[in-house]
Amino acid sequence: MRYRGAIGQWSWVLHRLTGLGVVLFVFLHVIDTSWAVFDPEGYVEAIAAYQSPLFTIGEFGLVFAVIYHALNGLRIIVMDFRPDLWKYQQQAAYYVLGGTVIVLMPFFFLMGQDAIAHYTSDPFVLPITDVLAAQLPFLGYFVVGAIAALIVASLQSSLSDNGGGTVQVGKAGSSSEKFWWSFMRISGILIVPLVFGHLAMMHVLQGVFELTAANHQIIGIPQGVPVDVVTLANGINESGTSVEFVAERWGFLWNGIAIWKVYDIALLALVVMHGFNGLRYVLTDYTSDNPLLYRTVTNLCLVGGVALLLVGALALLGTIEPDAIEMAAEATMKLYGGG
Ligand code: HEM
Ligand code: HEM
Repeated sequence: MRYRGAIGQWSWVLHRLTGLGVVLFVFLHVIDTSWAVFDPEGYVEAIAAYQSPLFTIGEFGLVFAVIYHALNGLRIIVMDFRPDLWKYQQQAAYYVLGGTVIVLMPFFFLMGQDAIAHYTSDPFVLPITDVLAAQLPFLGYFVVGAIAALIVASLQSSLSDNGGGTVQVGKAGSSSEKFWWSFMRISGILIVPLVFGHLAMMHVLQGVFELTAANHQIIGIPQGVPVDVVTLANGINESGTSVEFVAERWGFLWNGIAIWKVYDIALLALVVMHGFNGLRYVLTDYTSDNPLLYRTVTNLCLVGGVALLLVGALALLGTIEPDAIEMAAEATMKLYGGG
């Protein structure tokens, strides 16, 4: 009952690969964004890794993935509700590719300009070995999650009547699967403005390199807002640290509402639930004939999604204190200033 690539296989594969690529990014991104609150020095290092050539190349791939997946996702949604248009599936798949190229052009142009300006200014570049080493903890979290999922799956198998011989797979008609089918479509539509707004702010109108620009006006905060002593939200990144950048945005109150926190909560909830349920679709497609593996990957997606929602929500509920910004300033000096 869900989209299974009835049209050209390439567009189905591309939708799948781009979805998986974005899930992987979100997994790293939500955890390291939380370090702005829980581990300011770790956040400084994570953003330094984002500002290295490996991630710069990866970001072009990420933007392609988000744009293609969004446009193709919208095509799937339209086709689901307008079966009379199915005869144009193949053409529509090509329109999506063409649309992706058109939308990508201004993104790539502005991102490219920013990257050239940055790399020709003799910047500090985190060595690739450090960039790769910084990703190791994520592998650790994945392994721990996978082991936990396997243990729970084994218990489930031994507790089930038949000793795990069969498992209810592909219950397409069940009410929970109907819920997820609708959720994937509704969340997909809601994610479009949120994720494009976020990318525009972090990537295009202001690039990832500006996260650490000292005395720089922060995007999303109007100039000249009164300084709030607790949150420091005057809209200027005086310290030039990525931690102050996040503290200012999350601390900025618009009519008493921390709008960027509200925005990020919505983004977090929709993206994590959509992405991890999508991951479940993919992984269960390849494990449906093995009950233990099927249960393991289902548990893994549940554990991973819930853990990520918790980490992201706790960070959003936390406060970045001024001394966290001082710690970040010292770490930035040590790292970027070479001492
Ligand atoms: C390389 C491109 C990106 C950069 C530089 C970036 C940067 C940031 C920054 C600085 C924050 C901190 C909060 C804020 O200032 O609003 C943040 C939060 C967040 N971003 Fe991104 N972002 C990028 C791409 C994405 C994409 C593609 C997604 C989703 C598909 C995403 C999802 C989120 C979420 C869910 C949060 C909140 C995290 C939390 O609750 O801890 N970001 N991002
Ligand atoms: C930008 C707006 C987005 C739209 C319009 C969209 C739309 C869709 C649609 C319609 C599906 C098919 C659902 C089904 O099979 O029933 C889907 C699947 C999927 N989406 Fe998205 N999505 C969006 C963003 C995202 C994001 C940000 C992520 C990652 C965090 C993601 C990850 C996935 C994955 C992994 C799948 C499963 C792919 C498969 O089964 O082959 N999507 N998406």
